[in-house]
Amino acid sequence: MTGAFIDRAAPNGVPLFLRRWLAHPLRMGSVVPSSATLCKHMVRRGWPEGDGVVLELGAGTGVISRAFLDAGLPADRLVTLEIDPNLADHLRGTLRGVEVLECDARKLVEYLPERFQGRVETVICGIPLVLLPLAEQQRFVAAIAAVAPGRGFLLFSYCVTSPLPAGKLGLTAKREVWTPMNLPPASVWRYMPV
Ligand SMILES: C[S@@+](CC[C@H](N)C(=O)[O-])C[C@H]1O[C@@H](n2cnc3c(N)ncnc32)[C@H](O)[C@@H]1O
Repeated sequence: MTGAFIDRAAPNGVPLFLRRWLAHPLRMGSVVPSSATLCKHMVRRGWPEGDGVVLELGAGTGVISRAFLDAGLPADRLVTLEIDPNLADHLRGTLRGVEVLECDARKLVEYLPERFQGRVETVICGIPLVLLPLAEQQRFVAAIAAVAPGRGFLLFSYCVTSPLPAGKLGLTAKREVWTPMNLPPASVWRYMPV
């Protein structure tokens, strides 16, 4: 099965991304992968200060994860997670040496291999959490807090205002950057536990 969905002519997986959007538009939240500019912003703001692990939730076709690798993050310090089996298959086939978890991010605690536990330093999220009810958003926030206590997370979003009701989730919200160089234009938000 591995490799079945890899389009060698389109390493960023644009055709695959579009097909998965047609199948699950709300879950995908975007028609195309993040732009190189947005990926660079995520790398700059999500780069670990220590020698910890970067965890990407909702990795899609892996453009942000690949940007971390291109910037020099060793593959054994990167974990990507994706709910869509076709996208997870693409990630396994294209991100050499990177741990790919195929699951719902809300089940992160069950799926994160033991060798990564206690080592997650940065959590990056591209899941369209804005579309979910508060109770489901709380489950995502709790899952992240369980594997990376006190670390918070970065979330990119196309919303003009905070995509999460930070106060109700026990978080502070800070928009770190906005870029028009993405389809659609996007902001990077940092959420930290109060
Ligand atoms: C907007 S796309 C971002 C993809 C990629 N990170 C990028 O920047 O191009 C959102 C991704 O989150 C995934 N996703 C949605 N809900 C999820 C969940 N509950 N658990 C894990 N992944 C999820 C989707 O399948 C999709 O690949």
